[in-house]
Amino acid sequence: MELREFATRILSADTLEEKLFTPDILTDENPGPVLLWKEPSRPVHLQLQKFSRKDRLPSLALHHDPDKRAVCLHRFAGHELLAVEIMAYALLAFPDASSTFRRGVAYTLCEEQEHVRLYMARMKGLGIAFGDLPLYRHFWAYVPFLTTPLHYLSVMSLTFEMANLDFAPLYGASFAKHGDMESAALMERILRDEIGHVAFGRRFLEQWKSPEASDWDTWKAHLPPRMELSRAKGWEFFEEHRQKAGISSDWIEQLKNA
Ligand SMILES: [Fe+2]
Ligand SMILES: [Fe+2]
Repeated sequence: MELREFATRILSADTLEEKLFTPDILTDENPGPVLLWKEPSRPVHLQLQKFSRKDRLPSLALHHDPDKRAVCLHRFAGHELLAVEIMAYALLAFPDASSTFRRGVAYTLCEEQEHVRLYMARMKGLGIAFGDLPLYRHFWAYVPFLTTPLHYLSVMSLTFEMANLDFAPLYGASFAKHGDMESAALMERILRDEIGHVAFGRRFLEQWKSPEASDWDTWKAHLPPRMELSRAKGWEFFEEHRQKAGISSDWIEQLKNA
């Protein structure tokens, strides 16, 4: 299946099966013209809602309660599905980008589909299904700012996915502390994949930045106005996961202090 068709199917799907369909073979012979997708269609039970303060995740102190852990996993599954859709958006928005970039985005997208499946399996173990709780727009709100592949990478790979290098292990450790080793193992798997997704963004940022600019300055210059730099980290900071993704020590230091 062509990447363009793959992306279009994902963004216009009205069933979860279709959103999570991964073709065996992907080709990119006809990327087509630029297409800026307005809003992903969603199955009725997975509609996007507006987020408010009362919708914040339960604190780690409540993770002894399996229902509260399930709320967290449901939220994370929602993030993964949004990532799938934003990656599909990028495939349609940047038909002229290099084929290695496009193939990399498609590969990452397929991993995000797998993450949704993994969260769904674990939620089932905790007695809920995807769509039982509200889902929020979150990252989709930033789509209008993803005007070039470098903006896309700066926001997705190098901010939201980078923050997951802290959040995945933080939640994983808390789940383990409360005896939920299955959820903890899942967070470990997610962390491993996300390190790869951050590395993908870092590689292209290095390739595309102007030679005199630093990685850090290039990243900052490609974020939406008013986006806080702290969006790229959690409330604990795991340097080693960033090192594994090849993030420079200068970048790590500046972000730590941001
Ligand atoms: Fe993911
Ligand atoms: Fe990811």
